[in-house]
Amino acid sequence: MTTLDPWGAVKIDNYSKLFEEFGISRFDELLGKIPNPHRYMRRHIIFGHRSYDTVLEAMLSGKPFAAMSGFMPSGKAHLGHKMVMEEIIWHQQQGGSAFLAIADREAHAVRGISWEKCRELGINEYILSAIALGLEPGAHIYFQSKSNLVKDLAFELGIKANFSELSAIYGFTGETNVAHMISALTQSADILQPQLKEFRGPKPTVVPVGADQDPHIRLTRGLAYKMNMFMVEEREGTEGAYVSVRGKAAPKEALKEIAKRTGGRLYEEHVDVPKSNLTEVESTVRQVELRYGGYAFIPPASTYHKFMTGLQGGKMSSSIPESYIALTDPPEEGAKKVMRAKTGGRVTLEEQKVKGGEPDKCSVYELLLFHLVENDNELKEYYRDCVGGTRVCGVCKKHAAELMKKFLKEHQEKRELAKLRLPEFGIKSDGQIEV
Ligand code: TRP
Ligand code: SF4
Repeated sequence: MTTLDPWGAVKIDNYSKLFEEFGISRFDELLGKIPNPHRYMRRHIIFGHRSYDTVLEAMLSGKPFAAMSGFMPSGKAHLGHKMVMEEIIWHQQQGGSAFLAIADREAHAVRGISWEKCRELGINEYILSAIALGLEPGAHIYFQSKSNLVKDLAFELGIKANFSELSAIYGFTGETNVAHMISALTQSADILQPQLKEFRGPKPTVVPVGADQDPHIRLTRGLAYKMNMFMVEEREGTEGAYVSVRGKAAPKEALKEIAKRTGGRLYEEHVDVPKSNLTEVESTVRQVELRYGGYAFIPPASTYHKFMTGLQGGKMSSSIPESYIALTDPPEEGAKKVMRAKTGGRVTLEEQKVKGGEPDKCSVYELLLFHLVENDNELKEYYRDCVGGTRVCGVCKKHAAELMKKFLKEHQEKRELAKLRLPEFGIKSDGQIEV
């Protein structure tokens, strides 16, 4: 007998390469430790992570942590953007500080969108929807072009990134415009900004992204290592394991202090600390590094979620309006898109009653799973009834369309309220952001 799996629509078979070849860890390993997991976590839509344990540890012990993401103001905010916004908001609700960048430098350099249009789309599409979805004041919302901290950090990061590395990740060639390259570094600066002393960093920071965004995360993690004064790692010696602290360009005084505080042996450019705990040494090194003016970045963590497929099958793409539902689509229009969506239904009703539907191949089921049904048991019931042939597509679609209409209507009402609340987020009524 095949087992029924209500989360089957998001099978991770296709993602196993990510685990094996790219060193992404399975989110399942951490799931049991999360007190109040988000719907995307419970349903294995978030399937992978890099060093999310650092964030979780902070969350569980009441220490500071942050969640951040950026949005390119180049079009409409849709259900895919909603996923990222909800993940940021969930972390804010768990006690983290939330950061939301409007990537106007990127939109301007890469898509040629005017600054004025960036501002308009940034506020109307992304910021209002994020607030309507539950982002609370205290969140740091900013435009890249208006943040000196981000721009200065991007420049610093540029010292540690070279053209070959960036071109391997982003496909840059000799024809690529230089501002495009700068906007790639700006994205890394967005990710590391929460860790600056201006935001009482360093602190664990998570960037929730789609699986295809991993190269950016790897680049930023690499830059975080390179920016730091010291490299701390566990090593194996003749007398067993020890922790080595290397700081080639670090002030001698700083190395000396590390040796003193950890009880380690001091060499020309490194300190060896026998019989020590990696995390403890790391924490001491971080304190010393900060006193000597270093960044002491913690490599940023990430979580990876699966993508929704387009409503018509295929990919969800902003150039095909029928493939996605925008958060500002008129509710009736959103409902119609659901009615026109590709289902996992059989050719005839008789066949469906006998064989059952295929929710794993159904974009309507995907909407229920990702967005429209919060209660797991209720969703399981729909799944069972579909597979058992008692839930048929006509009725099911109408149900999903109603839920979508209700969601869009309520969301858009909340967006109207959000307009009045912009000043609470440091955004003046004329759309200027106070930095
Ligand atoms: N590059 C992202 C996009 O194309 C936007 C972005 C800018 C971003 N800064 C970021 C995403 C920081 C995650 C983290 O949409
Ligand atoms: Fe999809 Fe619903 Fe049809 Fe099942 S009954 S295939 S979930 S539309």
